Amino acid sequence: METPAQHFDCLIVGAGHGGAQTAIQLRQLGFAGSIGVIGEEPELPYERPPLSKEFLAGEKDFPRLLIRTEAFWTERQVMFLTGRRVTAIDPIARTVTTAAGECFGYGELVWATGGSPRRLRCAGHDLAGVHAVRTRADVEQLKAELATTRQVVVVGGGYIGLEAAAVLTKLGKSVTVVETLDRVLARVAGAELSTFLENAHRARGVTILTSATVTAITGTAGRATGVVLGDGRTLPADMVIVGIGIIPETAPLAAAGAAGSNGVDVDDHCRTSLPHIWAIGDCAAHENIFAGGARIRLESVQNANDMATTVARALTGNPRPYAQVPWFWSNQFDLRLQTVGLSIGHDATVLRGDPASGAFSIVYLRSGRVIALDCVNAVKDYVQGKALVEQGVAVAANDLANTEIPLKHWHAQGATA
Ligand code: NAI
Repeated sequence: METPAQHFDCLIVGAGHGGAQTAIQLRQLGFAGSIGVIGEEPELPYERPPLSKEFLAGEKDFPRLLIRTEAFWTERQVMFLTGRRVTAIDPIARTVTTAAGECFGYGELVWATGGSPRRLRCAGHDLAGVHAVRTRADVEQLKAELATTRQVVVVGGGYIGLEAAAVLTKLGKSVTVVETLDRVLARVAGAELSTFLENAHRARGVTILTSATVTAITGTAGRATGVVLGDGRTLPADMVIVGIGIIPETAPLAAAGAAGSNGVDVDDHCRTSLPHIWAIGDCAAHENIFAGGARIRLESVQNANDMATTVARALTGNPRPYAQVPWFWSNQFDLRLQTVGLSIGHDATVLRGDPASGAFSIVYLRSGRVIALDCVNAVKDYVQGKALVEQGVAVAANDLANTEIPLKHWHAQGATA
């Protein structure tokens, strides 16, 4: 058995939103033991959402993205071991090993590694000029090439693709989004919202191709020059951005015997099936009450932060099951999209407001009860709709469609709903 170089009472693997929040909450809740955070990237934890928005647009510089300053972490005695990738876990010896062969011991292990961007597999996928958008390094590299870029093909019409398309169009680039499904944002949004967003992007100059596949990326002298589609067309491109989802980073956990097929399975306190090992964030498959109890992974900052708090509570003797209502947001051009709840399994939708006005909400119902809202430039609906989702309030469709009645009108009924 290898002797660990260092032992931590709580060792967090992953220095993203979830890992940072675990350390913050542990100290906040009085955890007095030693805390170590192993991160693959060289930076201290930073906000990821601006990477495809203000950071890409050049409106925010990197120091403003840091979740906390270096001084904050030093004061709270949180030790960062950056630039290290954990490749193996020994759940009996309670150690982890890094790619460089270092060994660290733990009392409790919190796995907060998120996911890595899924890559295209076709010819040319590794040419220069083909970019993912997941880390600071990804976006720095992309930004360094912008001055010489005129035509961009974005592969994937998810959050990354649409946000990047909006920013790059505003920067004057000619942008085409290629989405394999028949509508954009299909993983998270209902059909009405997809249609609205496609129209909104087209009206602002983005070309959106749905039901379109990429079969190859062409190149000259090692650099991408075009994207070949399934129908034989080639779209000229100086830059290709690939936003086709993430793959949860859980291989060492699986090799150590943790249960899970899509990420790693956790219970309602974020415990994995292995003793003293917890998992949170994008990689944690949990039974979500807002998905009717289905086991899902949620890829969101909300989920990473709230699961971090769940683990910190459990580790400080004040456990509380994870039951937070999911929420997401996205900015694209002048559109602020906010989602609360999960529309999975909805059997009816109600439109509140007129999409043509640019401000409206779509309310999702299951068996007459509100389960989710997608709000576009409709902050009031988003804020007031949250309680309807939390309480599973039943509201008649006609009433919901009436924008003269604020959603808070039904808050009081929630208690009895
Ligand atoms: P995503 O899962 O949201 O979207 C991927 C899109 O690519 C889907 O529409 C999918 O149908 C499409 N696709 C898959 N394979 C394809 C292919 N071969 N060719 C063309 N299209 C293909 O993932 P995305 O946008 O890459 O985002 C990655 C992660 O970052 C997600 O966890 C996402 O939630 C997160 N994120 C969240 C944001 C937010 O909440 N505002 C903003 C940006 C990213």
